[in-house]
Amino acid sequence: MAQAHHPLLLLILLLFLSSTAIPSSKRTQPKFSAVFYFGDSVLDTGNNNHLPTVAVANHAPYGRDFPGKKPTGRFSDGRLIPDLLNERLQLKEFSPPFLDARLPNSDVATGVNFASAGSGFNDQTSRLSNTLPMSKQVDLFEDYLLRLRGIVGDKEASRIVARSLIFISSGTNDFSHYYRSPKKRKMEIGDYQDIVLQMVQVYVKELYDLGGRQFCLAGLPPFGCTPIQITLSGDPDRACVDEQNWDAHVYNSKLQRLLAKLQGSLHGSRIVYVDAYRALMEILENPAKYGFTETTRGCCGTGLREVALLCNAFTPTCKNISSYVFYDAVHPTERVYMIQELIVCHLSIYHAMHDVLMCYWITEQWN
Ligand SMILES: *[C@@H]1O[C@H](CO)[C@@H](O)[C@H](O)[C@H]1NC(C)=O
Repeated sequence: MAQAHHPLLLLILLLFLSSTAIPSSKRTQPKFSAVFYFGDSVLDTGNNNHLPTVAVANHAPYGRDFPGKKPTGRFSDGRLIPDLLNERLQLKEFSPPFLDARLPNSDVATGVNFASAGSGFNDQTSRLSNTLPMSKQVDLFEDYLLRLRGIVGDKEASRIVARSLIFISSGTNDFSHYYRSPKKRKMEIGDYQDIVLQMVQVYVKELYDLGGRQFCLAGLPPFGCTPIQITLSGDPDRACVDEQNWDAHVYNSKLQRLLAKLQGSLHGSRIVYVDAYRALMEILENPAKYGFTETTRGCCGTGLREVALLCNAFTPTCKNISSYVFYDAVHPTERVYMIQELIVCHLSIYHAMHDVLMCYWITEQWN
């Protein structure tokens, strides 16, 4: 074509080719060498099985849709976000709990899971349930690093951690304990949010000092919509507890500001906010769009308050789990997590442009 020889068109063509060539060559590099998970029951794949705590889910009917129908300690009928994300990133099929003494060396280099159900950023939250607070999870990460160095050597260990993703989702338990604590001992919610956020800052900094560079931090979900909070509120119409959702929303706004500031101060870091609030609200506000018909009761028992030991082998479960958003009175079903995994990064792309690159890394496989 004659036009293609026009110098300006040629230049445009070259620019176009070079701009598309860069991402496609990047695409062939592995996105993350490993993923590490820190947080609570939303991420815990079985650490609590190895702790003297009642915050466990290693009994039926948990795990009924897990491969082999095995109750593994995951607070759901099937897999959790860490399993789905690890598979999406082609690291491995599941996310192994670090406290499992049988954790094979072959699983170490691609990342492990430190999350503990019932825990929070605040040590006091975990003390009540005898679970691992964030401070302890970070200590365990140091133990993990020793083991990793022993397997692959110092240099390669540093490389793996620098190219890893650190995924943190916690805080819900800190606030559910706040709402339950006696009125006169309670501080202002805004002050308590700031205290929790100070802890977030401390732990991200500690993980950065240990070599982590890429972080995903999930905000709070709309926990005023969990069946148990609705039950505790006593509303006969079973509407979400607006006050708690508002508090979660305010905390999330503060968290986003903090993360932007932290990314600026921690040289070479990349810190992405994951909008867990919208990811659940999207489903709760449009249940029919996703095929759900029951949004305010869990599938286990009456669905009003059964969770952990109260959701057990003697508790009847719902007939059609596909129509339920919640499996027990607190935790979503695997189907919700599968939908959320797809929603989260779309939302991040729209709500925070500076997060596009990170989400692109995470999600490019299904684009
Ligand atoms: C179970 O629920 C799903 C989603 O609501 C629906 O598509 C399906 O037809 C239901 N199955 C039965 C057997 O009722």
